[in-house]
Amino acid sequence: MAEQRVVIVGFGNVGRGLVKTLLFKSSKLAKHGVNIVVVGVVDSKGMVYKPEGLRPVELLKMLETPRSGLRSLEVAKQYVDLKELYEKTKPDIHVELTPANYETGEPGLSNIRFALNEGAHVATANKSPLVFDFKGLTELARSRGLVLKYTATVMGASSFLSLLDHMKLQDVYSVRGILNTTSNIVLSLAHEKLVEVERAVEEAIVLGIAERDPSIDIDGYDAAAKLTIISNVIGKPVDFKSIERVSLRGLSLREVVMAIKEGKAWKQVSSIDYRSQKARVALEKVEPGDLLYHVRGAMNGVVIETDTGSYFFMGKGGGGVETAHTVANDILAIALREV
Ligand SMILES: NC(=O)c1ccc[n+]([C@@H]2O[C@H](COP(=O)([O-])OP(=O)(O)OC[C@H]3O[C@@H](n4cnc5c(N)ncnc54)[C@H](OP(=O)(O)O)[C@@H]3O)[C@@H](O)[C@H]2O)c1
Repeated sequence: MAEQRVVIVGFGNVGRGLVKTLLFKSSKLAKHGVNIVVVGVVDSKGMVYKPEGLRPVELLKMLETPRSGLRSLEVAKQYVDLKELYEKTKPDIHVELTPANYETGEPGLSNIRFALNEGAHVATANKSPLVFDFKGLTELARSRGLVLKYTATVMGASSFLSLLDHMKLQDVYSVRGILNTTSNIVLSLAHEKLVEVERAVEEAIVLGIAERDPSIDIDGYDAAAKLTIISNVIGKPVDFKSIERVSLRGLSLREVVMAIKEGKAWKQVSSIDYRSQKARVALEKVEPGDLLYHVRGAMNGVVIETDTGSYFFMGKGGGGVETAHTVANDILAIALREV
């Protein structure tokens, strides 16, 4: 059985989902000849590590701690120091699950560079490091003979990016999709409950669907980041900053009602047209004949137009445990290279 030593940096929704997935799916991993040993877990205030591997009972104890709560455990360090973590645990795989930051890409950008420079493979669900330096990070990984996996960064709960990556010989003309789950849920709420978008956003915050500061989703940064990653995977990179963004906030109740009367629905549609070189995250009134009309609530969907025809992908956009499964599949893919 090949042993892979893993450190998990970021212990929020996805980090906790990943620990559960690795615990509950260990027999499936074993069937593939892989034993994943978690040697360190980090949140923003502290870290727990054990060179011989954290036992299931210790990982379950961590899951009982509140957010930022690792430091409450007796064995925890009350600070974060990746250098120390690496010196003590010598990980094979670094899992980066810190929050996205579209101003600097940090802390994910430095963490991933550090991991690759230390000789660890990387699996990340954090988009912002790739938005800031896709080329640099992928080249760094390649030059060191390491793998950088990021399948969960787009349509987090599905393997969409792996399928797209497989389509290397197609010439892609355009990409058009619903890529941000929170916006899609907010717009679905506005249509169903006949309320202003601002009210729907407030409701989504109360329901725990939207963040307290929902601007990353509502103002289109998250969707633009996903377009940037998709375009890099296709091999025709677009610059994040060049992508036009329109916020959902301006949509009035009158416009929502008009759309319903016309049998249409408002959607946050992200698109790149390689023929006109236009990339944007916009509000579009779509009709039932449009595949994206049927992508509702927590679902994401993308239409890829190529020289061999159009392809439609649809799947759940995220969720802690669902996204964690995608990350765990990336970890397994890395581990299988070593078996
Ligand atoms: N949730 C989803 O469905 C989903 C889907 C696809 C992709 N993603 C991406 O996956 C990443 C994680 O998402 P999430 O929902 O798990 O986020 P989250 O719940 O906000 O968790 C983020 C974690 O990162 C920790 N953290 C923050 N700064 C840190 C630092 N400097 N060093 C170490 N740890 C730090 C936080 O610590 P504290 O606990 O101390 O705050 C927290 O444990 C994000 O980049 C997100 O965009 C999420």
